[in-house]
Amino acid sequence: MVKALSAAILFLAVTLGAQAQASSANFDPAAKVFRLDGGGVSYVFGVNTRGELQQLYWGARLGATDAFPQAAPLPEWASFDSSYSNTPQEFAGWGAGLFVEPALKISFADGNRDLVLHYQSFSEAPNGFDVELKDILRPIVVTLHYAIDPQSGILARSATIVNQGAEPVTIEQAAAAAWALPPSHYTLNYITGRWAGEWTLNQETVRPGERIIESRRGSTGHQANPWFAIQAGEPDEDRGEVWFGALAWSGSWRISVEQDQLDAVRVTGGFNPFDFGYVLHPGQSLETPVFYGGYATNGLGGASRLLHRYELEHILPRTVATAGQILPKPRPVIYNSWEATEFKVNEAGQMALAEKAAALGIDRFVMDDGWFGQRKDDHAGLGDWYVNPEKFPHGLKPLIDKVHSLGMDFGLWVEPEMVNPDSDLYRKHPDWVLHFPERAESQQRNQLVLNLARPDVRAYVFGFLDKLLNENNIAFLKWDYNRNWTEPGWMQLAPAEQKKVYVEFTHNLYGILAELRRRHPKVEIESCSGGGGRVDLGILRYTDEVWPSDNTDPFDRLTQQDGFSYAYTPQIMMAWVTDSPHWLNHRTTSLTYRMLSSMQGSLGIGANIAKWNDEEAATAKRLIAAYHQVQPTNVQGDLYRLISPRGGSEFSVTQTVRADKSQSVVFAFIHSTQEGRLFPTLRLKGLDPAAQYALTPIEGKARAGTPAAASGAWWMNHGLEMDEGFRGDFQAAAFRLDRK
Ligand code: DGJ
Repeated sequence: MVKALSAAILFLAVTLGAQAQASSANFDPAAKVFRLDGGGVSYVFGVNTRGELQQLYWGARLGATDAFPQAAPLPEWASFDSSYSNTPQEFAGWGAGLFVEPALKISFADGNRDLVLHYQSFSEAPNGFDVELKDILRPIVVTLHYAIDPQSGILARSATIVNQGAEPVTIEQAAAAAWALPPSHYTLNYITGRWAGEWTLNQETVRPGERIIESRRGSTGHQANPWFAIQAGEPDEDRGEVWFGALAWSGSWRISVEQDQLDAVRVTGGFNPFDFGYVLHPGQSLETPVFYGGYATNGLGGASRLLHRYELEHILPRTVATAGQILPKPRPVIYNSWEATEFKVNEAGQMALAEKAAALGIDRFVMDDGWFGQRKDDHAGLGDWYVNPEKFPHGLKPLIDKVHSLGMDFGLWVEPEMVNPDSDLYRKHPDWVLHFPERAESQQRNQLVLNLARPDVRAYVFGFLDKLLNENNIAFLKWDYNRNWTEPGWMQLAPAEQKKVYVEFTHNLYGILAELRRRHPKVEIESCSGGGGRVDLGILRYTDEVWPSDNTDPFDRLTQQDGFSYAYTPQIMMAWVTDSPHWLNHRTTSLTYRMLSSMQGSLGIGANIAKWNDEEAATAKRLIAAYHQVQPTNVQGDLYRLISPRGGSEFSVTQTVRADKSQSVVFAFIHSTQEGRLFPTLRLKGLDPAAQYALTPIEGKARAGTPAAASGAWWMNHGLEMDEGFRGDFQAAAFRLDRK
């Protein structure tokens, strides 16, 4: 028998800034209560008197000695709403009168579909617990995994479902976790979009019923992103309680936000149950994705700062150690010629662009689509990953050598999971694509999806990428994915087994990425899917950056970057400066405006620099140099959205502060000045009030009389005032503050 508290698993105290934060995971055997503490957060659940696992508390950190009695199920609400349904369960099986979203729904071979999960046992796990549940009669065992981050209090939850019986069962619905909030007035924040229009932040009152955020497309999707934030009361950037979460899955996913008949709110997320059916044979198990959940008391800004830091420290691949902390390397400033050349790449043209790029101070030269197979446009070539002999008669080596001789490293575009019907690969293996027999194969962008779930397809894809990286000195892959699934059949398998494709495809994608990284540890990878169609915490465990959108209009990007930043760190947010007028909106903007818009994230240049005049080149060179100086603060610091561009705002401003508060960077943008209105005074945030900070313009001017240096208290309380001439359409300014 485990003894209370003496059996507690006490984890290391970890330093967060100057504050010591301890994390702990305790089990109280008398009350059967589990408690996890990390950062400013406590998460508590227990075994209720019926044997179910019930959530008891998720919020601000409780006193170390505060104790909970054993969980009591909520009562029945008339005969129509059972106690089983009303009780906020950690992981409810569909059965016994559950009318809210189940975490798990199973069909047994004999037709029984009733599943009631009761607590069995627990074991210690790093920073948390593994808690075992079992159906009241049948040998279906579910292990719930919990791990709390000592610094942020962000909890990682997932489940492993095992069939210990003698007959196969079919899993029809499997969540990673369910989160519960007590009855209150809440605002739900979630992100939606479309191609070239990703990252719209939606804010709406949580109402009775269910709001589904999902992708049924086989991949993460542009249309919704697997992230949510629920704020108590009205949305507020700086104040108020926020519960937030993000699902680490790049296949079809679903998050449901449900206000039940008693006004309680539950968030359930995991595999999308639409068209789902995973047959679990005796002895087999299914691992769900991880659903991360966090809590902040300082509004949406506080929530996103916690999530950014967690992504930087725990999700993204890490390559470089800085100041005792392992953080991912700031992204090299890249050049990519896609918008300049599209498919018309060749040795001479790319070499000429490389020379121009190097002169600007670019770190990495990336060749995009068009270099392989018979790829002249998007009708042919995908699947045939040999170097096109007309465009590159001597292979890639001369171009790569040239890029290296100019002091840059070399990156290459690939789209490994796709095939054009007009390709040698498809002619040889027409059965390798997702399809149903005798049904037409719907083409999108003239391409089909290879069934990566098949072992032979996985081997082919891994094989060509491994060969490409072995034979060429490549530092970076831009991994693209330009359509969604249709006719998702996996004809090699028996009909009942085919829906496993929703799980195995994504597992094989992750497996290939992991193996490539292991064999080629210096190679970095970008997740691109026609822009931001595959951005989630699952793919980010294996990729270093993402392409947020094919829309590179610098004004549109401000709103997209704002929306993106609620869920994801600017470190991964690639942002290219492209040509003006912009191809999408036909909007004309200055190079300075375009540069500053892109400098909010990880900067790249995607314009036709062959056509730039000396003045444009000099502007870009100066701002790239200025960017390099502040980049770690800018993309890895704490982000404050001082003025959001959302809702047609006349102005927008972001500020980032380095973790040690030694530096801060401010970007300010004007959409269109109206009625001569002056730019608002910017009361900065997050600085050390007692420290002195020197102000240096990167672009633009502060108001005459602004001190060259002042205390953090001055910049935060008095504020930074812009020059009175800072007016007009599509104007931009940027400043840095350095602690003296
Ligand atoms: C879609 C990507 O988002 C673009 O940046 C570009 O790489 C094209 N695909 C190439 O086909």
